Amino acid sequence: MLRVGIIGAGGIVRGRHAPGWHKQQLAGAAQVTAISDIFEEPAQAVADSLEHNGQKPAVYTDFNQLIAEAPIDAVDICLPHHLHAAAIMAAVQHGKHIICEKPMCISLKEADEIVAAVDAAGITYMSGHNELFHPALIAGRRAIQQGVAGKPFLIRSHEFPGGYNKSAVPGRDAAATNMVGWRASKEMMGGGVLIDKGYHPTYILLALAQSEPKKVTAMMNTFVAQMDGEDTALVLVEFEDGSIGQIFTGEGFVFPANDAKFHFVGSQGEVYGDRVTAHIKPRGFDDASTVTPKNYAGDTTFDDEIAHFVDAVATKRKPIQDHYDGRRVLEVIQAAYRSVETGTTITLPLER
Ligand SMILES: NC(=O)c1ccc[n+]([C@@H]2O[C@H](COP(=O)([O-])OP(=O)(O)OC[C@H]3O[C@@H](n4cnc5c(N)ncnc54)[C@H](O)[C@@H]3O)[C@@H](O)[C@H]2O)c1
Repeated sequence: MLRVGIIGAGGIVRGRHAPGWHKQQLAGAAQVTAISDIFEEPAQAVADSLEHNGQKPAVYTDFNQLIAEAPIDAVDICLPHHLHAAAIMAAVQHGKHIICEKPMCISLKEADEIVAAVDAAGITYMSGHNELFHPALIAGRRAIQQGVAGKPFLIRSHEFPGGYNKSAVPGRDAAATNMVGWRASKEMMGGGVLIDKGYHPTYILLALAQSEPKKVTAMMNTFVAQMDGEDTALVLVEFEDGSIGQIFTGEGFVFPANDAKFHFVGSQGEVYGDRVTAHIKPRGFDDASTVTPKNYAGDTTFDDEIAHFVDAVATKRKPIQDHYDGRRVLEVIQAAYRSVETGTTITLPLER
């Protein structure tokens, strides 16, 4: 049984990760033995919610102490972005397996140190790229890998407000058009919306593409949200095979309905979808076939990623997305920021 320490007791832990670990506890596959937050109260509340078989996670206000002292095999890192690298490095030094929320870290220097340290330690590192577990993405990627759409020439992917963060969407929550806390700080966030919400369409784009990213051009700005970083970003990525990718993200509006979250256009057809339903349209046909999951009961992507991590550690298999994937996503995002700073197209690998 995997013994786990959760680091951070904020929104994503209370809403998603703690319930995901609870399911693993019920299945007898894991036990959360420790939780850390600088604030004791939310950590205690999460600990209470995870009491199982008479065992309750111990509460720490210092994650370094949790990593050094708690009886754990793995950590689940859910901290503000600027703290990810320090928590990852501390966990690696103590030989703990790691699942970490997006992004892996906020600079490529940190990413390179993490990649080297994780490889040297031989631990399992999983990037929490939860949206790859959406049914439409699973079915869509499978169809693309089977070649139904042929060779890609255009792939687009986007993410806009849709639930967890009501701030900065005029009309949706009139009282709160500001980003609050660390998300409003460029230093703590590592940028603006691109490295937060826009992180999802970036890993989705890279997962759909059939080759490596080669060039990145971006435009972004801050229009409505009160945050240091950008609230709207449009990024173009050219891949080695010549295909063109587009990442589109923002905090400033809710995307109009009926638009596919991802759209892969290839020589033989198209694959597109929202989170739940995938559509497959061979070239030369008017109507797409639709793939819907059986008994869809809402978003289980966090439960699924946590179950996948537990299995990857137990079987020593490479997780669906590891530290190299975390670094690849960050490199595209950093290249987009560099493109805006310089007003040029950036060729990868990104110079540091
Ligand atoms: N995959 C997704 O869809 C998704 C959605 C939301 C958040 N996230 C990610 O989850 C992470 C956390 O986001 P959140 O929304 O829960 O933020 P949050 O602000 O709600 O929670 C962060 C928590 O970390 C705690 N914290 C701050 N410094 C700490 C320290 N030194 N030690 C221990 N705890 C500390 C804070 O007190 C807070 O409770 C981020 O990486 C974010 O990008 C992912």
